[in-house]
Amino acid sequence: MKNKSLVSINDYSKEEILQILELAAEFEANPNQPLLKDKVVASLFFEPSTRTRLSFETAINRLGARVIGFSDSSSSSTSKGETLKDTIKMVSNYADLIVMRHPLEGSARYASEQSRVPVINAGDGANQHPTQTLLDLYSIKKTQGTLDNLTIIMVGDLKYGRTVHSLLMAMAHFNPTFYFVAPQELKMPREYIIYLQNKGITFYEQSDMTNLEKADILYMTRVQKERFSDSMEYERVKNAYILRNYMLENTKPNLKVLHPLPRVNEIHTDVDPNPKAYYFQQAENGVYTRMGIIAAIMGLH
Ligand code: CP
Repeated sequence: MKNKSLVSINDYSKEEILQILELAAEFEANPNQPLLKDKVVASLFFEPSTRTRLSFETAINRLGARVIGFSDSSSSSTSKGETLKDTIKMVSNYADLIVMRHPLEGSARYASEQSRVPVINAGDGANQHPTQTLLDLYSIKKTQGTLDNLTIIMVGDLKYGRTVHSLLMAMAHFNPTFYFVAPQELKMPREYIIYLQNKGITFYEQSDMTNLEKADILYMTRVQKERFSDSMEYERVKNAYILRNYMLENTKPNLKVLHPLPRVNEIHTDVDPNPKAYYFQQAENGVYTRMGIIAAIMGLH
């Protein structure tokens, strides 16, 4: 993985994914390891973020490296009309690694092609969010003891939700069964359905929140308001699914509720005290997983 960009989760093999999860466990056991004291990491966020940016910056700090960058592109020369190509060419002269979030699908791949240093995709539009997937896998393995043969129900915005796109591709290595729960307007895109069909993965599509009793993982997602061109369409679907605590009554003891966060209404706060609610620990796992990703790319392990 040394010097290898992480743009799509499919850039890394199953073995490489498992290696990062092992590194993440090592960093969780011992989070302060200043292995990158002479390195500079650029954190370029062209789109808002709380967890991804702050957990990356925490990971960088815990590894002893320094961070440059911006959390709001209006404070960069992008606002003067500088192209992404020129920005990346400049920043790759300053830093040893670039972490980038951008609203355009394909922007991370393009950046990786322009950069002299590896690029980590921190989310490109509705396309991919591979580091979220690695922390999701870490959370699933930690709570289930395995990644193999699990039943995963994904609920909500399966059209624009980049986290579910990356997660289904990664889980395809581990013989999952999927239930996709979405309104007609937000169904899993055809390309991902074909991807699963080609791999012989079992999946079901439904529009109601039934079958919860079968799940090992219930993966809730936010309806991605920022991706809708028609605000009326957003209003129609924004509260399509709201998980309430009573709905978890007959679920499996090992069930965990995951959500990449931020949530809006899709998980009621009455779920939060339930031991099956795992989304805040999931976000914490992002620090250790991102330490593992950076360490692997910088060739530290
Ligand atoms: N999960 C996630 O990407 O959250 P942020 O948008 O806050 O980074």
